[in-house]
Amino acid sequence: MLDRIREIAQKLFPRLVEIRRHIHAHPELSGQEYQTAAYVAGVLSSCGLHVREGIGKTGVVGDLARPDGDARCVAVRTDMDALPIHERTNLEFASRQEGIMHACGHDVHTTLGLGTAMVLSQLVEELPGSVRFLFQPAEEIAQGAGWMVEEGAMENVNAIFGVHVFPSIPNGVIGIRYGALTASADDLEITITGESGHGARPYEAIDAIWIAAQVITSLQQAISRTHNPLRPVVLTIGKIEGGRAPNAIADHVHLQGTVRSIHPETHATLPQWIENIVANVCQTYGAGYEVEYRRLVPSVLNDTALTQIVESAVAEACGKDSIEIITEPSLGAEDFAMYLDKVPGMMFRLGVGVPNQRNYPLHHPQFDIDESAILTGVVTMAYSVWKYFEMTMGDGE
Ligand code: NI
Repeated sequence: MLDRIREIAQKLFPRLVEIRRHIHAHPELSGQEYQTAAYVAGVLSSCGLHVREGIGKTGVVGDLARPDGDARCVAVRTDMDALPIHERTNLEFASRQEGIMHACGHDVHTTLGLGTAMVLSQLVEELPGSVRFLFQPAEEIAQGAGWMVEEGAMENVNAIFGVHVFPSIPNGVIGIRYGALTASADDLEITITGESGHGARPYEAIDAIWIAAQVITSLQQAISRTHNPLRPVVLTIGKIEGGRAPNAIADHVHLQGTVRSIHPETHATLPQWIENIVANVCQTYGAGYEVEYRRLVPSVLNDTALTQIVESAVAEACGKDSIEIITEPSLGAEDFAMYLDKVPGMMFRLGVGVPNQRNYPLHHPQFDIDESAILTGVVTMAYSVWKYFEMTMGDGE
């Protein structure tokens, strides 16, 4: 089966490069992936998939199955949105949308999803179960996966695979992580209410700016004293607003930030921990407070059995030297985690770096990939799906 997957993928490769360049030239922002979704739906339909559009706003779902297949269903997820970044690559297929760029490689992910669908559609008669392709919107704002799950995209799915390109891993190599791949990401808003007064007589007022400074300092210090450093927590206050005049005491300060962690148990305790510290500081100095903690996405936890499947797929398809075992999780976040609320899954990293050359990071205006990685990605994904069916043989019948 591996040889056949590889042979079909190799034949399709020039077409896949065309698809990637088309999507790259026509990027769309999160939640506005109308043209991309229509294009994806067109390609999937032409391969004989059953296609549903508008699942989770601009999401697309394509199902591939032979009529007498069994009940097992494995999903392949890719994301379609671009970023509000002005492209500076000088590529001939650079963005034609002013100020919008596929700087996170979601053009490549979409191509990998389509490529995998194109390969497996030629082998559909031999697929024991079904494959569901999810093309999700709005990954960059950590919303699209949740939208699709809410609208039933995961119904009847048993397992899910995902992929993200990675410029610091060379082309031809796949990054594999057992356990936590990314962190949870949550939004934090704190409002501190004091009392105005003359800047010359702070003792007659309650200085919300000074108390906000105490709150930020306390939070940062308390992290190092109350959390196990082997279970990281990162808290960043990225925005602070308050005060009206240099010589008046501010009665109101608004703080906004992001909170990252890896371990689910730590994650569960964070809202109360933050609220306690804010409450203690504010009460000490007589200020009012409000804490709003919004959970956005949990940590992506790769399932061990599915990770073994991908690792062995890569070993067979590309050789053992093509595996890079990732030893540490990233503190970035990925809304792939929303699917893992429903079923076990695995997300791997596809190396797209050109060896011995400067490779710009994700979200950089000059980010680009070595396109030969598309072939590696499609073969790895298609063969992992196949191996999933081999491993679960007998489970779904
Ligand atoms: Ni991304």
